[in-house]
Amino acid sequence: MDIDIFESHLSLLFRDFPRSDLYDGSEFSSLFANVNGLSSPAVLAVLSAAAHALDSSEIYLEAGSYAGLSAIAAAMNNSARLVLVDNFSMIGDEELRNNLKEYDMDERTRLIHGSAPDSLNELEANERVGVFYYDAAHDSASTLLSLRGVRRYLSSNALIVVDDFDSPSVRIAVEIFLSENSQANLIYSIDGSDRGNSGWWYGLAVILWDSVCT
Ligand SMILES: C[S@@+](CC[C@H](N)C(=O)[O-])C[C@H]1O[C@@H](n2cnc3c(N)ncnc32)[C@H](O)[C@@H]1O
Repeated sequence: MDIDIFESHLSLLFRDFPRSDLYDGSEFSSLFANVNGLSSPAVLAVLSAAAHALDSSEIYLEAGSYAGLSAIAAAMNNSARLVLVDNFSMIGDEELRNNLKEYDMDERTRLIHGSAPDSLNELEANERVGVFYYDAAHDSASTLLSLRGVRRYLSSNALIVVDDFDSPSVRIAVEIFLSENSQANLIYSIDGSDRGNSGWWYGLAVILWDSVCT
């Protein structure tokens, strides 16, 4: 993952990142009209910028995909390979499968049925993670164990994006993870609706993982 490409995509998409207003949110808005989801156009735009920064050997890994809104937004207009982990406790997998097919992403997607963090162990040796988006269970233990669990699969440079950062349980997990790993730096901490910032869903943490920083 190339951090300069990520930053330059952010500046193409946002008028004044991390403010949430986009130059043209129509693509993400039309996704909302077509795919059920729990997110906001600004969050989707960050995921898109992150996936554009992947190199061809890396994957976009997501825990908590629901019907596919965030994954499809990330993979639009690029060739990112997707690995999606969900225990389908909220809806079954049929809607996700249909949506991936409709957006012609099914053949570059691997679905893992199961719970994070345990199912993160099902990544394969050739699946180096350039972007990890965590949007599954938002309790501290699941969040922290998932962040810890993904470390061994991360590329030497990777982005970790954690949703629902307004939630105290998520915030605690991220803070512990950052304190444990000098390779991890919080590059953006974005408040969401619970903190009076409505464009950002329930807040976002963007962590840069740089294995050289030990
Ligand atoms: C907030 S929704 C994800 C929303 C999605 N990212 C989007 O853009 O619409 C959370 C998802 O996480 C899944 N989930 C909840 N706990 C989980 C766990 N421990 N492991 C894996 N998936 C989980 C649910 O089944 C649900 O699909």
